[in-house]
Amino acid sequence: MVSGTGGEWWTGAVGYEIYVRSFADHSGDGIGDLAGVTDHLDHLVGLGVDVVWLTPFYPTPGFDHGYDISDYCAVDPAHGTLDDFDRLTAEAHRRGLRVVVDLVPNHTSAEHPWFRDALANPRGDCRDYYIWEDPAPDGGPPNNWVSHFGGPAWTLEPGSGQYYCHLFLPEQPDLNWSNPDVVAEFDRILLFWADRGVDGFRIDVAHGLVKDPLRRDNSLSRPLTPDMGPVEIFESYDHDHDLDQDANIEIFRGWNQLLRSRDIILIGEIGVSDQKRASRYVAGGDGLHEIFFLESTYLPWDVESWRQAVTGLQPLAPTGVSWVLSCHDRPRAVTRFGGGERGARRAFALATLTMGLGGTPFIYQGEELGLPDGRIEEGRATDPLAVRNPGSPEAGRDGCRTHMPWTDGPTNGFSPADRTWLPSQDRPAHLTVAGQSDDPDSMLNLYRDLIAFRHRTPALWEEPLRWPDSATEVVLGLRPRALMVLNMAPEPREVRLPDGPWTVSFDSRCGSCRSAAAQSLVVTRETCLILTRT
Ligand code: NOJ
Repeated sequence: MVSGTGGEWWTGAVGYEIYVRSFADHSGDGIGDLAGVTDHLDHLVGLGVDVVWLTPFYPTPGFDHGYDISDYCAVDPAHGTLDDFDRLTAEAHRRGLRVVVDLVPNHTSAEHPWFRDALANPRGDCRDYYIWEDPAPDGGPPNNWVSHFGGPAWTLEPGSGQYYCHLFLPEQPDLNWSNPDVVAEFDRILLFWADRGVDGFRIDVAHGLVKDPLRRDNSLSRPLTPDMGPVEIFESYDHDHDLDQDANIEIFRGWNQLLRSRDIILIGEIGVSDQKRASRYVAGGDGLHEIFFLESTYLPWDVESWRQAVTGLQPLAPTGVSWVLSCHDRPRAVTRFGGGERGARRAFALATLTMGLGGTPFIYQGEELGLPDGRIEEGRATDPLAVRNPGSPEAGRDGCRTHMPWTDGPTNGFSPADRTWLPSQDRPAHLTVAGQSDDPDSMLNLYRDLIAFRHRTPALWEEPLRWPDSATEVVLGLRPRALMVLNMAPEPREVRLPDGPWTVSFDSRCGSCRSAAAQSLVVTRETCLILTRT
């Protein structure tokens, strides 16, 4: 069984990730805010997306830029007020845009009243909201689990002599999802936002909530070496016991039930590379509706990697994957694929491929401009991955989080402040919204065209897709009324088409078109074509 029966509002939709801190600063403090998002909703309408995902805007001490929440039912003053949120939702809905908010259930901030209470009252109710263990016999951490951000996933709390678990920073203690009180607290939080009119939740670290009750060690999949950074160290373990436990799926079934009558989408961030295991979260259609399959933000420009990703996952979850090429945690696609014109050309060819798949593809703010990563001068890094691990070979995530370039004025029109939270990049006019809007050949207009093409071509998500073995460096996806050809080679490739007649209807080099295709077609290098049956 697969998720998504096809009648939901998100069928065939296109999403857009707003990294709120860097989208638009209305208040003038150098940090993006909700009113700034409202100011720019018309950009999203013009782009043609259907749904926006807002990254966390809740009260936070900011150790992980909002992914450390100290109150789940309020707005951080740096991002505005609840009234600003209501205004944003109302204005989005008035324009036909849906709003998805980020929910962070794996961990709270250490400043959340629950954790404060857990520290102050080791025998109180909140203690068991978190994961506590006695030290190992040698006094060290209870097992070998490691944090994504470096070091052990356990910190000793001297008051009680126990360790608490945190898969991220010590300032982000993990919740204990085996405790029914935690389940009940989150049911209340979900309903709070559902009652305020949100259309969905993006669930942070959805694969991490439940931990092995026996707290067994993870096995190592490759030896650790001294030159590894925290991400590489984390990825050197199999994570059999701290991630992807079956009981996670039960939690989402409960949420699906709770929100059943509300027309709400649940999209989980699933950092599980095994495609079969990842697809469990959407199988049955009674848990999560879609997964962000993060692997696609790691794939290089390489035909085998992409063929395996799409041919492996698409049959398992034809409408259950939110394909993404970039997000606020990974280098932007243009940079990853070589930068400059080549990087932009490759990124847009892959965007064309993913817009031809079922599920809801999400564009990360700035992707529609062909934006590469920003540069962060020495001393201006803010991401804990960089700041807490000096000398690590891995760069932090600030580069993909620099602000959205609206104009070529000061701070690229992001903020009226002199100093912005990440350094302003002085992007040239041709990389700004204003500079691209009226240029028919711009990346922005290609994206507008691609999204409109997806919307008017339901075959792209309605029909079953087959992936025959195809020529080297070409990915071919076949549907009865539409087919996709992606040539990843550095030179043109000839492709034989199944019986037609076919029309080339979208070309990642130049957008919508209408040219009859012969039985065999020469596809330009690094180009994706979508053909429809005439
Ligand atoms: C995934 C989020 O996207 C990332 O930004 C954050 O650091 C971690 N989860 C921890 O919440």
